[in-house]
Amino acid sequence: MNYRHAFHAGNHADVLKHIVMARIIAHLKRKDKPFRVFDAHAGIGVYALDGPEAQKTGEWQGGIAKMQEAFAPEVEALLAPYRKVLADLNPDGGFMRCPGSPEVIARLLRGHDRFTLNELHPDDYAALRDRYYIDARAGITGIDATVLMKANLPPPERRGLVLIDPPYEVKNERELALDALRFGIRRFATGIFMIWYPVKGEDFAEQICAAFQNLGIPAMLKVELRVRESFTGGGLAGSGLIIVNPPWGLEAELKVIVPALAARLGIGTWGQGAVEWLVLPKT
Ligand SMILES: C[S@@+](CC[C@H](N)C(=O)[O-])C[C@H]1O[C@@H](n2cnc3c(N)ncnc32)[C@H](O)[C@@H]1O
Repeated sequence: MNYRHAFHAGNHADVLKHIVMARIIAHLKRKDKPFRVFDAHAGIGVYALDGPEAQKTGEWQGGIAKMQEAFAPEVEALLAPYRKVLADLNPDGGFMRCPGSPEVIARLLRGHDRFTLNELHPDDYAALRDRYYIDARAGITGIDATVLMKANLPPPERRGLVLIDPPYEVKNERELALDALRFGIRRFATGIFMIWYPVKGEDFAEQICAAFQNLGIPAMLKVELRVRESFTGGGLAGSGLIIVNPPWGLEAELKVIVPALAARLGIGTWGQGAVEWLVLPKT
C-alpha cells in the first residue's frame, strides 16, 4: 500500500466529494431519527496543508485554495454545511487545516447519530484511531473495505450513508470498488452509497461508469467534475461520484453546485460538470 492521502488532501476531487457528502448528511438530518455513516476508506481525518506531503505536490492549490471567494448566494446556501466544517476546523480563518471525510462526518453528525471509520493502512489507521477514539459516536476499524461491508451492514439504525473511496492504486481496484458496492447494497438495500472514481487516462471514467451501470442496481446518480483534458499519462483530470439511492432533491442541488465548481476549478476554459442518472430509480 503506497497511497497516502496526505499528498492529495484538498485537491479538486476532495472538494467535490466533501461538498456532496455534506449535502447528503444535511438531507439525512432532516429526520430526527438517528442514522449511521460508514467511511470505508477513511484516511486520517485532518490534513495540514503546510505539512511536507501537501507542500510537495501542491494539489490543494487547484482545489480548496480556489474556494475562498464566495459563490453566488444560491450556491453558497447549498455549500453552508461544507463551509461550516472548514470554519470550525480553522477558527482563525483560512483552510490550512483541511478536512478529510471523517472530519466532515464528525463535525456534521448529531449527538445521537453514529459513524464507523475504517482505514487499512496501519499508520493511517493509528492516526485515525488516535484522533477519533474519544468520540463516543465513533467506531474505528482497520480492515479491508469489502470485509467491512460484509461484517457491518446493515446498521441497526437502518438508514445512513456508506462512502467507498478507494485510491485505485492497484490493478484490480475497479473490481474491488464494484464488489464493495455489490456486497454492501445486498445487505443494506435502502442505504445511500457514494462511490468515488477518478477521471484519468483515455477512458477510465467511461469504463467504470459502464461497469456500475451493468450491476443491475436501480437509482444511480452520477456526478462528475473535469478540470482539464484527460489523456494517458496525464494524471488526475477530474473525478466522479456514483450515488446510489440519492435523497430526493439532491439531484437539483447538484445541478446548481457542480456547474459553479466547474467554472471555478476548471483550468482555463476546461471546467466541465455533469449530473445525470446512470440508472433511473424504480417508479
Ligand atoms: C482516497 S483515500 C481516502 C480519503 C478520505 N476518504 C477523505 O476523503 O478524506 C483512500 C484510503 O483508502 C485506504 N485503503 C486502501 N485500500 C483499502 C482497503 N482495501 N480497505 C480499506 N482502506 C483502504 C488508503 O490507505 C487510503 O487512506
